Amino acid sequence: MHDAAPTPPEPAPAFLHALEGRFIVFDGPDGSGKTTQLRRFTRACRARGVRLCEVREPGGTPVGERVRDILLDRAHEEMAVRCETLLYMASRAQLVEQVIRPALAQGELVVADRFVSSTLAYQGAAGGIPIDDINTLARIACDSVRPDLVVIFDVDERAAAKRLGLLLDRMEAKGAAFHKRVREGYLEQARAEPDRHLVIDASHDADTVTASLFDALSAWASAHA
Ligand code: TMP
Repeated sequence: MHDAAPTPPEPAPAFLHALEGRFIVFDGPDGSGKTTQLRRFTRACRARGVRLCEVREPGGTPVGERVRDILLDRAHEEMAVRCETLLYMASRAQLVEQVIRPALAQGELVVADRFVSSTLAYQGAAGGIPIDDINTLARIACDSVRPDLVVIFDVDERAAAKRLGLLLDRMEAKGAAFHKRVREGYLEQARAEPDRHLVIDASHDADTVTASLFDALSAWASAHA
């Protein structure tokens, strides 16, 4: 989504340094505005001099970007959900190996735009692949690498659809009932592991969402110092 008026808090808050060496995922339904918020967050981190590694899924490596093209191409309408699941995991395995694990080993803050939480919501809750199977695949793809925190930008499917515009990719074009199950899938993950998740109400304007995000992250950072 286009970030017209970037307004991370000024000056960038000191608690951001406490996040170095952690792995944080920004996630949520299509149209939740998570990418705008991620940009604002990483801008604030850079302003503070936080050592940062930013990645996106699917993609984030040359191999992964090619997998992304296959996954999101609307010509591939026939793609089976099992195939889809394995391709997302394949892209992720390469990203963990090539980028995320080395960055964490260097003590960087790793910020990912989507991760296993997306597969659990889209291919699991909405697509019908059993959650236990996805978690087994995730252990193969990621080995011991797990996010310390997943920030979920929560928005209902009607508000999200309004933000998406007309040019939808293959996943975005799956319809309202699918996206309702996606949202429920995210909220279920947060209920199951509240300590690892923050749910941010993303139905408001971007500045209000940014303010909630920084408040929630600051509280999480002091609780997990
Ligand atoms: P993006 O629009 O945030 O770049 O995400 C690409 C699409 O891929 C989005 O519709 C969500 C979808 N997706 C899955 O269905 N499963 C996954 O595991 C990931 C990472 C993304």
